[in-house]
Amino acid sequence: MRQSNRGVLTASAALVVVSLLAACGSSLYTSTITADSVKLGLLVPQSGVYAPLGTDIRRGFELYLDGRGGQLGNRRVTVVVADEGAEPDTGVPAGQKLIQQSQVAVAVGVVNSATALGLVQQFNAAKVPLIIANAGANALTGAKASAYVWRTSFSNDDAGASMGAYVASRVDSGGVYLIAPDYAAGHEQIAGFRRAFEAAGGHVAGADYPPFGTTSNYQPYLARIQRSGARAVFAFFAGAEAVAFVKQYKEFGLAGTIPLYATGYLTEGAVLRSEGDAAVGIQTALQYSSELDTPTNRAFVSAYTAKYHSSPTVFSVAAYDAAQVLDHALANATTGPEIVAALGRLGDIDSPRGTWRFSATHNPTQRYYLREVREQDRTLVNAVVRTLTN
Ligand code: BEZ
Repeated sequence: MRQSNRGVLTASAALVVVSLLAACGSSLYTSTITADSVKLGLLVPQSGVYAPLGTDIRRGFELYLDGRGGQLGNRRVTVVVADEGAEPDTGVPAGQKLIQQSQVAVAVGVVNSATALGLVQQFNAAKVPLIIANAGANALTGAKASAYVWRTSFSNDDAGASMGAYVASRVDSGGVYLIAPDYAAGHEQIAGFRRAFEAAGGHVAGADYPPFGTTSNYQPYLARIQRSGARAVFAFFAGAEAVAFVKQYKEFGLAGTIPLYATGYLTEGAVLRSEGDAAVGIQTALQYSSELDTPTNRAFVSAYTAKYHSSPTVFSVAAYDAAQVLDHALANATTGPEIVAALGRLGDIDSPRGTWRFSATHNPTQRYYLREVREQDRTLVNAVVRTLTN
């Protein structure tokens, strides 16, 4: 089967990328924002299980920036790219260096929830705005949200919650088995689903949380699922773990016998290419699909595909929108407090995912879509079945 996404990250003409001087311990930069320039940090995984997500985030950000001639808020942008790696032990120091050594005026990115949670205090204390383009930890934009932390992606319990009643209506009393990696995002993604699923009368047949970042053999978990008598599975995995889980689910003989539901990260972007036919039929909930048939998304998909020879993903859209909100906010703001005040004044954002706006606690208020992996024109896509919630 032909796959829709190909190619590697290409350097952008308009985007000036400066490697993070992680080891040298000194700063080359003292000024981060002037009347006509701004220095911005991009903190994304370039290694580890979430590296493909980092590529998509970088591409989405570059696409918006290139479309503005390398400027945001009429200021020429210099981007310092830092490797988040897979976990907080790499991501937190990389984020600290963006603040302390590179002295960025604002940062974008962060994939891993635990890493983002470890960085909140640093950005808050430095009064440097952090626009999270993925990490979904509920507390990041919960009741105690930080003034300097904003999110253009999602909150971990949202996608699963949007799907709970739907799955409950399709599964009989044998129940649903829950599975996700054992870290903040895994537990929260499952909890969001479980609350809505049980409220709709669903029964949970069992749950497992394999170690995050180190599990490559899911056979013992798949055997437990089989023995449990569950009639369906609900999962959260992303990146390399999503590929391993989906392929082994099919190899073990569960695909086609026990339907697999998930939050959309399981089948999004590069992982779907690697999963291939093993992913066909999986139903997921997410706030985006490249298949959304709207004028804004069609234009976005066409520009993205022309540049990267690859379909955009939910990760690229979150980063594209992070650049978009900064474009507006930086127009009249030169300090951290001014930038966050400007973010608070933004209204509706016209996005490839549909229109959204920041909630009072800095999280997107957005629609979720039911998607199904189908083959279309000999390519695997996340076809949009319908809207789940607004
Ligand atoms: C998270 O850690 O919040 C996360 C990582 C990958 C996909 C979705 C959420």
